[in-house]
Amino acid sequence: MKKVEDYIRTIADFPHEGIMFRDVTTLFADPRGFRMAIDQLLHPYAGVRFDKVVGLEARGFILGGAVAHQLSAGFVPIRKKGKLPGRVISESYTLEYGEAVVEVHDDALQAGEKVLVVDDLLATGGTAEAGIKLCERLGAEVIGCAFIVDLPDLGGRAKLESLGMEVHALCA
Ligand code: PRP
Ligand code: HPA
Repeated sequence: MKKVEDYIRTIADFPHEGIMFRDVTTLFADPRGFRMAIDQLLHPYAGVRFDKVVGLEARGFILGGAVAHQLSAGFVPIRKKGKLPGRVISESYTLEYGEAVVEVHDDALQAGEKVLVVDDLLATGGTAEAGIKLCERLGAEVIGCAFIVDLPDLGGRAKLESLGMEVHALCA
């Protein structure tokens, strides 16, 4: 039987020469693959109650919406700077060259709410760490972080685990 990783395509030299880009659009486009991925993302959290699923722009929205529906939880987007219309709080994080900023509406999570953070891929962990910080600044409790792909050589898992996070990924 095909595994989740079998549906993911790797594209050489995108977005820069030397990068082997893991393209999950081929997973999302396949009915069996997409269902398998959502089921496996949910698997470790059987019996856990979440108030909100937080998705990281952009591919985390596609996964997060489906996961939130399955959990009967709400969905909250964390977006790149300047995209959300209401009052926001912001976190910056380091990219290969320079900095990026992510934001969340300041009323999107309530103190004490239990949150699952979802994205397609964990690389350096900068995006996920910034997202977790935003959730925690609003008083929410991040119970777990779930990804399709973990690239462990880039240190993201170690970074998140050093913050005490439980990290779950479907493939490396
Ligand atoms: C990719 C990926 C993660 C992030 C992982 O998104 O979807 O969100 O990078 O990298 P990190 O662990 O080193 O932070 P990208 O920033 O390319 O944004 P996009 O989804 O809007 O294209
Ligand atoms: N795919 C998608 N997003 C990414 C990748 C990748 O290979 N590396 C860093 N962010």
